[in-house]
Amino acid sequence: MIIDLSGKTALVTGGARGIGRAVSQGLADAGARVVAADRAVGEMESEAEVDGRRLVFRKMDVARMDEVRRVVDEVARSSGGVDILVNNAGVMGNFALMNGQTPERFAEDISINLIGAFHCSKVVWSKMAEKGWGRIINMSSISARGGAFAAPGYGASKAGLLGLTRTLAIEGGGLGITVNAVMPGLIDTEPVRKQGAELLDRVRQRIPAGRLGRPEEVAALVTFLVSEQAGYITGASVPVTGGIELFTI
Ligand SMILES: NC(=O)c1ccc[n+]([C@@H]2O[C@H](COP(=O)([O-])OP(=O)(O)OC[C@H]3O[C@@H](n4cnc5c(N)ncnc54)[C@H](O)[C@@H]3O)[C@@H](O)[C@H]2O)c1
Repeated sequence: MIIDLSGKTALVTGGARGIGRAVSQGLADAGARVVAADRAVGEMESEAEVDGRRLVFRKMDVARMDEVRRVVDEVARSSGGVDILVNNAGVMGNFALMNGQTPERFAEDISINLIGAFHCSKVVWSKMAEKGWGRIINMSSISARGGAFAAPGYGASKAGLLGLTRTLAIEGGGLGITVNAVMPGLIDTEPVRKQGAELLDRVRQRIPAGRLGRPEEVAALVTFLVSEQAGYITGASVPVTGGIELFTI
């Protein structure tokens, strides 16, 4: 099966590094023009060639509607609008038991991981509906199925993304817009590596695949879900986990 995204424009949030960077490259490799938007993008890091195709970086904080609007308006002017939105930007650093949690830290997780996805979806929605074609992917987590120990804001936001996915999928059905969630398990990126080798070794023993996932493996799933071939898949929450969720005892 050949996935051809030429003629499509994708906006990938949190696209500067990790899973978002791999997704941006994967979509560009499949022929899309990709705007990787991230609050961490430096002024110098504005463009890169990926196999001869263009990957553009833009500075954008998903928690700020005005910044999202600015970038999406720019994309509309330069290439006719966003066809593919990957709501990938997320934070997972707020680890503390309830005594150490504060309303502010909880709200920050929700405002980036969940409200950020709402902001971006809201701003691209009418153009997708006008074109009668659109793809939205929400980067949830397998922890949305259970809980995220000592990370209530993370757990709540990732579970919230599944509800947002299903709800928008219902509305998008008649408009040609599919909305799906991806639920990664433990993927080898910076915030995961920060957990330390000892903890990761213990967790690895509970992964049937016997290893952490690679960002490119998440990107491959996203590339399929946004393709023409996946047009009948909507409202789904798809795990990419090496089977980590299968252990129950
Ligand atoms: N790595 C994993 O094991 C794993 C597992 C499940 C889910 N996820 C999810 O996948 C996504 C990417 O994770 P990752 O491991 O690549 O993390 P990462 O920290 O390497 O990348 C996240 C990117 O999002 C950006 N970002 C953060 N807040 C932002 C904001 N307000 N606006 C714009 N950009 C913002 C960061 O600057 C960073 O570049 C996250 O949503 C994460 O929750 C990751």
